[in-house]
Amino acid sequence: MADQKSIARPRPADPAEARRLAALRRYQILDTPPEAEFDDIVKLAAQICDAPISLISLIDERRQWFKAKHGIELNETPLSTSIAAALHEPGLVELPDTEADARFRDNPLIAGETRLRFYAGAKLETPEGIPLGMLCVLDTKPRHLTEPQRLALRVLARQVVNQLELRRANLALETRVAAEILERDRMWLISRDLMAVAQHDSALIAVNPAWTDILGWSIGELIGRKGVDLVHPDDRTGTVTEVQIGSGGRTLVFEKRFLHRDGSYRNLAWRSIVVDGIIYGIGRDVTDEKAAAERLRQSQRMEVLGQLTGGVAHDFNNLLTVIIGNLETLQRSAEGTPMRRAADRAMQGVDRAVSLTQRLLAFSRQQSLAPKTIAVNGLLAGMSDMLSRTLGAPIKIATRFAPDLWPVHVDPNELENALLNLAVNARDAMPKGGNLTIETANATLDSDDASQAQLAPGDYVRIVVADTGTGMPKEILAKAFEPFFTTKELGKGTGLGLAQLYGFVRQSGGHVAIESTEGQGTVLTLYLPRWRDDE
Ligand SMILES: Nc1ncnc2c1ncn2[C@@H]1O[C@H](COP(=O)(O)OP(=O)(O)OP(=O)(O)O)[C@@H](O)[C@H]1O
Ligand SMILES: [Mg+2]
Repeated sequence: MADQKSIARPRPADPAEARRLAALRRYQILDTPPEAEFDDIVKLAAQICDAPISLISLIDERRQWFKAKHGIELNETPLSTSIAAALHEPGLVELPDTEADARFRDNPLIAGETRLRFYAGAKLETPEGIPLGMLCVLDTKPRHLTEPQRLALRVLARQVVNQLELRRANLALETRVAAEILERDRMWLISRDLMAVAQHDSALIAVNPAWTDILGWSIGELIGRKGVDLVHPDDRTGTVTEVQIGSGGRTLVFEKRFLHRDGSYRNLAWRSIVVDGIIYGIGRDVTDEKAAAERLRQSQRMEVLGQLTGGVAHDFNNLLTVIIGNLETLQRSAEGTPMRRAADRAMQGVDRAVSLTQRLLAFSRQQSLAPKTIAVNGLLAGMSDMLSRTLGAPIKIATRFAPDLWPVHVDPNELENALLNLAVNARDAMPKGGNLTIETANATLDSDDASQAQLAPGDYVRIVVADTGTGMPKEILAKAFEPFFTTKELGKGTGLGLAQLYGFVRQSGGHVAIESTEGQGTVLTLYLPRWRDDE
């Protein structure tokens, strides 16, 4: 890459001079405004040496430039008129009478109006010994410095260099601090985590943009507001754990639900420290994480329940086979006797036990299914009479069937059964009437959607059954799919409807999700895998 400067200004041929200039540049001092620290030194030099003029002269490539001057108005002169540039002797240089020195006879400052006759300069040398220029005093008459004046000039020259070094260190520090602040600001801006500075009463002093992304509130709406006011009322007195970190600062760790602008809540896991009564905190949104963990817990629970139920149902089935066989013998041999009616009634009880066992097997995904390729829209249309009869007049049924719905491959009787149970549940939840909506659609689940539904990504047919009934509180919703869980009065519900639906849909390679809001209604969503002809 071409060095722009080297094109504009050819490098000095002398490598030592090039190094010297580079060293000078590193101080970033040339053409800077006057600074009191340097001005003081030239004043002091003039006073001690009893000279009318004193200068800090820095030798640049083509000029000498004065960082500080006393008794003269010039800022710089060309190198040709620089005495400092011409002197290469180390240490202190004294020219008792410049007119006597052949080197300066043509110098306009000496020969001209100013008639400077006396010059004494102490070299400014970097700690590495690189010469930068001179601290000099000048006078209009020939003279000498006293020994104490010489010493003072040398000491002051070292002070100039010290000052230059200090200045450079400060500059470096400032640059680093500025970089760090910039870095911190950048973190503050790009963080996905919420960051906050708050007063001891949790009134927010500063918040980063992640607050708006995650909680919806604008920064203006948040500043001055107490953080605790956004916390869910039930979480305000919750646990705050104090952990000790490295230097012994107090770090508070807590997880609480925070109010989103839309009225919902997000779970935020906070770590904060308190320094001088000011709280600094970082909060991570763990809502999705928590929901995923909860889904996993639920599905593991259903798994365990399914295995348990399946085992019992199997044993029961075997027992029932024995009972049925013997009851049939009994029925035949009791033909024409009063015992026959007793045997028939026993058989009716056994039939009910068989159907119960079947439903349990269905829940544990072990029922024998007879899958067929079916069009869900057609199946639903075929059920419409039965559905309106089951639901009764006060409930309005609306259907939205997607055209070109993909076929599925499931047991049609079981699907019908499942949908009927959903309709009955909806009816029971809407004793005063309401709306039942049945919707079908094709749905392609990407890996995110699919993993939420514990399915493989791909094509599914979605069936949504929604009612405007009572809905369910959280505790009931969490148990709705469990076998024998019912809120209905004795004899009205077995609590097996949704359990059976769950087992059937899972056994068929699909998924069922339930959402419910108390007082607003319930939505059941079924996913059944798309059937492709070539399968
Ligand atoms: N649409 C709904 N609205 C409100 N609550 C519902 C709804 N569907 C189910 N529930 C609740 O879930 C429970 C379990 O439902 P599920 O269908 O498994 O059993 P059930 O309807 O009580 O009995 P069964 O279906 O065996 O006759 C119900 O008792 C009810 O509390
Ligand atoms: Mg039911």
